[in-house]
Amino acid sequence: MLRNKDDGMPNMRQIEALLSDLSQDSEIELPAELLQVDLSQVNTSMLLDLSKRLMGTVIDYKELMMMYNCALRQMRTKFEILDAEFNVRYKRNPINSINTRLKGTVSIREKLQRMGVPFSIDSIEENLNDVAGIRVVCSYVDDIYSIAQSLLAHGDITLIAQKDYIANPKPNGYRSLHLIVAIPVYFAEHTKQIKVEIQLRTIAMDCWAELEHQLHYKDESAGNQDIVAELKTCADTLAATEEKMLDIRQKIDARAPLPTEEDVLFEKMRKIDVAVG
Ligand code: GTP
Ligand code: MG
Repeated sequence: MLRNKDDGMPNMRQIEALLSDLSQDSEIELPAELLQVDLSQVNTSMLLDLSKRLMGTVIDYKELMMMYNCALRQMRTKFEILDAEFNVRYKRNPINSINTRLKGTVSIREKLQRMGVPFSIDSIEENLNDVAGIRVVCSYVDDIYSIAQSLLAHGDITLIAQKDYIANPKPNGYRSLHLIVAIPVYFAEHTKQIKVEIQLRTIAMDCWAELEHQLHYKDESAGNQDIVAELKTCADTLAATEEKMLDIRQKIDARAPLPTEEDVLFEKMRKIDVAVG
C-alpha cells in the first residue's frame, strides 16, 4: 500500500495518509514530535524511514498493552478461583466485585511527563506500576488480608511493593491495601514479567473512595481543611461500622461449626458435577 509502482518508494500522499491514519487511531496518541514533521523539508527515503519507525512504535506499543491486558486477565482468574475456593470452604464469598482497567495513552504520557522521563516502551515498563490495575472489593477487612496472603503464596507472583493504607490510613481517611506485583505472561516465543497494581478494599472503603474521588476538592486543598476533616470523619464512621459488622459475622461464625474436610470435598464434587453437567 505504501509503495510507488515506479521505484518501490512510498509517495508523499501515501505517507501523509499513513501519518493521518496513525494519529487518528483512537487507542494511540503518537508523540507530537514524531508527527510535527514538515513534509516539504524531507525527502522520500527519510519519510519511508519515518513511517517505518512510526509503524514500529505503534506495533510495539499495542503489543505492550496486549501484555498488560493478558496480565490483568490472569490476575482476574486468580481472584475468581480464590473466591470460589473460599466459597466452598467457608460458605460465603469474600470477593464482592473485581474491576480491571488499562491506563489510557493520554494518562500514560501525562504521568511520564510529570515524572520527567521519556515516552517510550522501555520507560513505560520501567517507570509505571499502574498501567494495569485491578480493584478487588471484599466483604470484610479480614477477607482483604486472607485474599492478599493467598495470592502472594502463588509461586508465579512476585511482590514488588506494598502500601497498607488500612493499617495506616491516609490523612484524608483513604483506606485500601495496595500491592504492586509482577506476573509472568507467556507468549509463543517469550515470557515477560508484567507489573500489575492491585487495590484491595472493602465495600465501605470503596464507597468512600468512589464518592471522595468525585468531589474534586484537592486542587484547592489549602482552603479545604474543613472538607478534609469532614471526609475523615465519614471514613472513620464507615470504618467503625464495618468493624462492628465484622464482629457480628465472627460471632455468627463461632456459633456455626466450620465444614469438615469431607464437607469441603463433597461440596467441591457437587460444584464440579454442576459445572460439567
Ligand atoms: P499515583 O497516584 O497513581 O501516582 O500513585 P501513588 O504512587 O501515589 O500511589 P498510591 O498507592 O498512593 O495511589 C494509587 C491509587 O490509589 C490512586 O491512583 C487512586 O486510585 C488510589 N488512591 C490513593 N489515594 C487516594 C485517595 O486519597 N482517594 C481516592 N479516592 N483514591 C486514592
Ligand atoms: Mg495510579
